[in-house]
Amino acid sequence: MTGSAKVRAARKEALVYNPIRPQGSDRMPAIQGRKGNVMNTATQQPANNQRLRMVTVPDFQAAKACGTRLTMLTAYDYTMARLLDAAGVDGLLVGDSLGMVVQGQPNSLSVTLEEVIYHTRLVARGVRRSLLVADMPFMSFQVSPESALQNAGRLIKEGGAHAVKVEGGVRSAAAIQAIVSADIPVMGHIGLTPQSVRRFGGFRVQRDAQRLLDDALATQEAGAFAVVVECVPADLAEKITSTLKIPTIGIGAGVHCDGQILVTNDMLGLYDDIRPRFVKQYADLGSDIMSAVAAYCREVREGRFPSAEHSFS
Ligand code: KIV
Repeated sequence: MTGSAKVRAARKEALVYNPIRPQGSDRMPAIQGRKGNVMNTATQQPANNQRLRMVTVPDFQAAKACGTRLTMLTAYDYTMARLLDAAGVDGLLVGDSLGMVVQGQPNSLSVTLEEVIYHTRLVARGVRRSLLVADMPFMSFQVSPESALQNAGRLIKEGGAHAVKVEGGVRSAAAIQAIVSADIPVMGHIGLTPQSVRRFGGFRVQRDAQRLLDDALATQEAGAFAVVVECVPADLAEKITSTLKIPTIGIGAGVHCDGQILVTNDMLGLYDDIRPRFVKQYADLGSDIMSAVAAYCREVREGRFPSAEHSFS
């Protein structure tokens, strides 16, 4: 397929969910299942209003009951958020992975609350349908449940997030409880929690079955509506998934989780400082960008751009 044919095909596929130019059915489900099974049609938009319904926290919870796998990706700015949302992803996470893929840091420890609020605001402007989750960065929830609640509130009020994500299970239960008590939905995160990189001595697969199960249950009991399970052997993630009532969102945790998340820059081939084994690269945008920029530089140097078509008379 040529480049423009590929773009046309991708657009056609995305139109199924595209809130900007909806096509065909005017009654779109918030989350569409593997076999096209439609969840929760009750709150869909009426026929004369073609806006898609937002994916909600209850939709995430219902997806597990329906056996509908959830899709999540990270986003850090308006342009990418708009594309990912229009392509039909169920949830967008403004991850503190922004420290690595946006800021070029070796890990996420230096990311500040102000930075996550800023990026969440950018992403929120591009979201029409996806559930928008903002990460609570290192030291924004560890000091006390009170400051965790205050900081989570800022991500909702100033960033426009619909929910927040908190790393750690047993050790973070009090913070999760405090945040949930103010009706702020929390997504947990267990397994390889990147903010624990110094204790782990690197980004390592987590294999302590009892600890993982304790963390998963503590997250659920504290009131989280879903939990990210990162870098855990597939059979352990399967056990956690079947034990919990809330959906598990896997990353490097096998196929049996209730949903999956990837760092967008990894799966689109935009970032290769670190290439975890669990990442599947669905596109090579890094190479496409370099070819496009090389062509632009060549044409400018050769006096072929701008042509008459791109000039004013
Ligand atoms: O920060 C992040 O992007 C994350 C995902 C990898 C789950 O926590």
